[in-house]
Amino acid sequence: MSETRKLYIKTYGCQMNVYDSERMAEALGAKGYVQTDRPDDADMILLNTCHIREKAVEKVYSELGRFRPLRHTKPDLKIGVAGCVAQAEGEEIMRRQPMVDLVVGPQTYHRLPAMVEAVQAGGTARDTAFPEEDKFQHLPKVRKHPRGPAAFLTVQEGCNKFCAFCVVPYTRGAEVSRPVRQLLHEARELVARGVREITLLGQNVNAYHGEGPEGQEWGLARLIRTLAGIDGLDRIRFTTSHPDDMDEDLIAAHGDCDKLMPYLHLPVQAGSNRILKAMNRKYTAEAYIRLIERIRAARPDLLLSGDFIVGFPGETEADFQATLDLVKTVGYGQAYSFKYSARPGTPAAERTPVPPEQADDRLRRLQALLGAQQRTTQEAMVGRVVRVLFEKPGRLEGQQVGKSEYLHAVHAAAPKAIRGQIAPVRLTGSSANSLAGELIQTAP
Ligand code: 5AD
Ligand code: SF4
Repeated sequence: MSETRKLYIKTYGCQMNVYDSERMAEALGAKGYVQTDRPDDADMILLNTCHIREKAVEKVYSELGRFRPLRHTKPDLKIGVAGCVAQAEGEEIMRRQPMVDLVVGPQTYHRLPAMVEAVQAGGTARDTAFPEEDKFQHLPKVRKHPRGPAAFLTVQEGCNKFCAFCVVPYTRGAEVSRPVRQLLHEARELVARGVREITLLGQNVNAYHGEGPEGQEWGLARLIRTLAGIDGLDRIRFTTSHPDDMDEDLIAAHGDCDKLMPYLHLPVQAGSNRILKAMNRKYTAEAYIRLIERIRAARPDLLLSGDFIVGFPGETEADFQATLDLVKTVGYGQAYSFKYSARPGTPAAERTPVPPEQADDRLRRLQALLGAQQRTTQEAMVGRVVRVLFEKPGRLEGQQVGKSEYLHAVHAAAPKAIRGQIAPVRLTGSSANSLAGELIQTAP
């Protein structure tokens, strides 16, 4: 029996990092580590970092600085940096910040147990390779008890699209799809532990093309339909998708697969064809709009979400207007918008930037429009009945919070025992980031 040690993990960035953090905790569980949510209690601190937008590296250094005093009170404390900043800047981080004992990239964290052993013996460890082997084959097969009834499952990783602004193809590497058999096993594991909703994750999840049980290739729609056959699994979602990979079968699944929720995150990034081309997005605004029409024809109540970048190099006011026009034409229930941030090593980083005041101004105007659309969408839900998967306590005494089919956070007065259940709720009000509702009492 190894002795018990405490592990504190801080996770930045996307949902895949949340999933990776869980898997790292499981891998280190085998080394006797149990998770704590207090850094001052930890024997090992791991920062699981994100490199997608600006100041990523600075954030890591300042976070490390905050942990420095802990090192004085606990000389044996080990500190590791994981994730995409580790992948991109790991060597430099170790050189500049000697308090870092360990650096591990997103594709090598199955090797953490051996790395931690080296670190415990007083050494340092750095592994940011893109290994041949499949890390998932080397991670514990039994999933830890999940935190709630909704879980993430990485089905695809990496990206071959090389959008001109994006670091992902460099930090996460080339596209890899996990084999169907592995995913069915993991999904069943989660469901056996009380999970009722699974969000399939991938940087380009709808490009999924994993090996099927008989060696043939499966697309995402086939995987979703098969997962839908698992008893006890009630809801399936997937994120993030590229418009070019929405194939016929996946569009159809939105109409005919009951367990696939009516919510789709489909980033467009910009509405100007000139900018889309400069971004290397490989579609036009018109093609995106037609695609949305087809998906909505399959699932009329779909709630659409998107990502937008303003101030991409070369973006003029007319280009930006085209983005506003696209948003007005399409209508988003929810969206994320960002100011372009030059990422080292990406093609767009070499181009002349838009003046920051202009980019700030455009971001403000875009967010005002998207915010208004989100409010209108939410307000239109009031009076309707949705089905909520309750996950955790609400802010007020006696309240529980969960997610509707449309991924809205919904809170309602309900007993604690409702957590993990899906119940009908009549929506009564809408506020900035959530909806309020009343449980509809069903006959016992
Ligand atoms: N600058 C600004 N936003 C970016 N994104 C990705 N790279 C950058 C960048 N360099 C945004 C895109 C993507 C989302 C995950 O982050 O909108 O869809
Ligand atoms: Fe990045 Fe997504 Fe483009 Fe891939 S498709 S390069 S992950 S923005």
